[in-house]
Amino acid sequence: MATDPGLEALKARVAAAQLGPETEETGTVTEIADGLAHVSGLPGARLGEVITFTGGARGFVLNLGEATLQVAFLDSMTGVDAGSTVTRTGQLLRVPVGAELMGRVVDPLGRPLDDLGPVKTARTAETERPAPAIIERDFVTEPVATGLLVVDALFAIGRGQRELIIGERGTGKTSIAVDAILNQKNSDITCIYVAIGQRTTAVRRVIEAVRAKGAFARTIFVVAPATAEPGLRWLAPFAATSMAEWVRDGGGHALIVYDDLTKHAAVHRELALLSRQPPGREAYPGDIFYLHARLLERSAKLSKARGGGSLTALPIAEIEAGNLSAYIPTNLISIADGQIVTSAALFAGNQRPAVDIGLSVSRVGGKAQSGALKAVAGRVRLDYAQFLEMKMFSRFGGFGDAAMKKRLERGERIGALLAQGRYAPLSTAAQVALLAALSDGVLDRVPVDGFAALKATLAPLIEAEPQLAAFRAAPDAVDGTAREALIGCVSAAISKLPLGRAPETP
Ligand SMILES: Nc1ncnc2c1ncn2[C@@H]1O[C@H](COP(=O)(O)OP(=O)(O)O)[C@@H](O)[C@H]1O
Ligand SMILES: [Mg+2]
Repeated sequence: MATDPGLEALKARVAAAQLGPETEETGTVTEIADGLAHVSGLPGARLGEVITFTGGARGFVLNLGEATLQVAFLDSMTGVDAGSTVTRTGQLLRVPVGAELMGRVVDPLGRPLDDLGPVKTARTAETERPAPAIIERDFVTEPVATGLLVVDALFAIGRGQRELIIGERGTGKTSIAVDAILNQKNSDITCIYVAIGQRTTAVRRVIEAVRAKGAFARTIFVVAPATAEPGLRWLAPFAATSMAEWVRDGGGHALIVYDDLTKHAAVHRELALLSRQPPGREAYPGDIFYLHARLLERSAKLSKARGGGSLTALPIAEIEAGNLSAYIPTNLISIADGQIVTSAALFAGNQRPAVDIGLSVSRVGGKAQSGALKAVAGRVRLDYAQFLEMKMFSRFGGFGDAAMKKRLERGERIGALLAQGRYAPLSTAAQVALLAALSDGVLDRVPVDGFAALKATLAPLIEAEPQLAAFRAAPDAVDGTAREALIGCVSAAISKLPLGRAPETP
């Protein structure tokens, strides 16, 4: 009898079949709260494991208690009640990672929020991943240019750095981060913008700005708006970091903006209190520091052996009534490598970006700053701080002498130089030119209200100057010829101003 190949295959399958009992661990929802379920009967469950509810909704283990564990919902909790059955999946939470996410707007699980269809990536990654060890890291030495003169010149940011942007509501924090993203249009840096608990309209504005003026096709938007399940809002920064790490670990460079971690702290508190964790200082559970520390530790510059990639973080935090010393702000300040503090008073006085020069600091970026910028920016911070002090006293009168008047006028011009409209990034070469011109006194002839026009006129002149080709490509050091050419461009720009007079040649 001829053997039937189909039959043989079937026989082989029968022989190989596992006939042992199949285990599926199930438990019961004992109690349900806003976005959170208390579950009993899953003794083997792990932190971060995905749990499914009857009806198909998914959640993840947020907290392991003695008798019960707490599961945060990732889908709508309608249809789930006390008494519902839950099942372990044995899988830790994973999100899609890969180039396919670029130019997309997704939720923290990588599900599309735009109308471009599902995101299909070849790989996924766990949302909680360990930070690179010290031995796997390298020093922060290459700059991330934000295009904002006040940041690049005074508080330079390096690849792998974590620089906090902190200030009151409506003082331009998001705008600073978005400008930094827009300035990567012509760089090799991939950007990830994470919206946590924001209004949808505000998120849409950011997306539209990047679409219009940034490298949209190289930017990933991870959005968990105020209306999203608390579990999704909690997960957003971790999931987005895993997406960013795909770039970092592939030897590339990424910039991630967390907007904002104050709202993330609030959702952590909400879930922790619903889990009946004891509240601590200012009603935040004690692990909130560890939560943000382990998130921001994942931003790093990797060693050559690990591919030399980097992940730079710009976490944003909101404070109330200028109170930088509240619990969450001080936590974040101590975790980050520096902070850019925005001031409501400066913002109201139309000094925008409203960066408080006295309170802001960048602890590692100085080593990454372009040498040319460092050379010309040296005195600006001190001069400006002195000016602000003098200005306060000059209100009382009595500063008649010419030297004082000159310093006040110079200070006003530094203020005008540091001010910058939104979506108007300045190249490093243009920043060096302006600061060199300032220290040479070339800008003394420009009226304070002429600086915006000057910057706009200057940029194309610098781009077109053949003598500056080498400097534009690598603005690391400025020699005599380059400096002369830069100042020449500024003078030419001044002569083109409607109000300006050409400065006499030295
Ligand atoms: N450099 C700037 N020049 C002019 N307007 C600005 C500038 N930065 C921010 N703004 C305006 O200030 C408002 C608040 O800015 P936003 O970045 O949303 O603040 P925050 O994130 O601190 O709440 C926005 O409407 C924005 O248009
Ligand atoms: Mg904002």
